Amino acid sequence: MERFGFILHPLEVQDITRKFSLAERLPNHWLETMFRHSPPIKVSHITGVRSPQGTEAEGWFVGCLLTSRQMLELPLPIVLDKIIKAARKAKELGASIVGLGAFTAVVGDAGLTVAQNVDIAVTTGNSYTVATALQGIRYAADTMEMSLENASVAVLGATGSIGSACARILARDVGNLVLAARSLDKLEKLAAKIRTETRSDPVVTTDLAEACRQADIVVAVTSATNAIVEPEWLRPGAIVCDVARPRNVSRRVAETRKDVLIFEGGVVQVPGNVDFGLDFGFPARTSYACMAETMILALEGRYENFTLGRDLSVEQVDEINRLAAKNGFHVAGLRSFERAISEEWIAEVKENARKARRVPASS
Ligand SMILES: NC(=O)c1ccc[n+]([C@@H]2O[C@H](COP(=O)([O-])OP(=O)(O)OC[C@H]3O[C@@H](n4cnc5c(N)ncnc54)[C@H](OP(=O)(O)O)[C@@H]3O)[C@@H](O)[C@H]2O)c1
Repeated sequence: MERFGFILHPLEVQDITRKFSLAERLPNHWLETMFRHSPPIKVSHITGVRSPQGTEAEGWFVGCLLTSRQMLELPLPIVLDKIIKAARKAKELGASIVGLGAFTAVVGDAGLTVAQNVDIAVTTGNSYTVATALQGIRYAADTMEMSLENASVAVLGATGSIGSACARILARDVGNLVLAARSLDKLEKLAAKIRTETRSDPVVTTDLAEACRQADIVVAVTSATNAIVEPEWLRPGAIVCDVARPRNVSRRVAETRKDVLIFEGGVVQVPGNVDFGLDFGFPARTSYACMAETMILALEGRYENFTLGRDLSVEQVDEINRLAAKNGFHVAGLRSFERAISEEWIAEVKENARKARRVPASS
């Protein structure tokens, strides 16, 4: 039996108050202070992961009690110390590799310091997140009858760990690439790298609204702690892949723009009769790609640091994709705000987009 751990944290205080109604009566800042002083906790035991070759794995979700906002705002040594303690807890429970969920992979140097301070293998899971986001984008473009080579694609959070790998890979195939984030300096460095690697000539901007207005496809992968994409920024018929957790695109955008296809990047079907012992809003036997990467490495017995730091290689993305297929993991169709996107849904989006562009349905 192979063994893994995965570190979770509340994205916002409401993740805790929704589960424990008594906590609802306490002010948010009290709860956050309590979180800050709490040790890591075992959240659940994960059973039933089984590859088509018959290799089995079990694991544990370990809770690191800090919200996304606390992860970004508290002094880094305090945050890293809590993540390191959570990784050690995973080891105590029996794990040989631990995955870093959501902001535990974003803070500091994206896992490098954590890996140096624990005697268990560490991965952020970002390589498989990139692979599955790209698969989702290609599938969505296909169903929306959009040709990638003619499409204009905006990557929001382009200089990040996931964003830069997505941008570098998409640069090989798409018509126009727009790179957006807050630091112009980092954007220009990335654009220069992409120009040397491909024939693409990306545009850089710190104006997210402008980036979206130019885009047929938006890849939203910033580490902003609030939704940042506004409904009026999106073109009719646009495809939006929201990889970020917490989401970069709010439910309000989905509700007001029925002519846009918004889906979550990185939702994966897990092989076997897996029981996560925890409801994170997905259908049975599906997980986030970052969790899946940790399970895949465990099934392979690859107890080594895999994805760490912000400079992901295309080879790593290809390799985890290959290992995923070998072990029976695949993208679980498109999902949006806890619902599967059906063919009818896509047809409706296309029809609404036609109307919004005022093009007759027969054309
Ligand atoms: N769906 C999944 O399975 C999955 C898996 C792993 C991670 N994630 C999520 O993916 C997101 C990105 O993770 P990462 O590891 O790539 O993070 P990262 O390396 O820290 O990169 C974050 C990117 O966002 C930009 N950014 C941050 N705040 C911004 C803002 N307010 N406006 C515009 N740009 C902003 C950053 O550049 P500047 O600082 O220059 O703006 C950077 O380009 C996180 O939300 C994470 O939780 C999802």
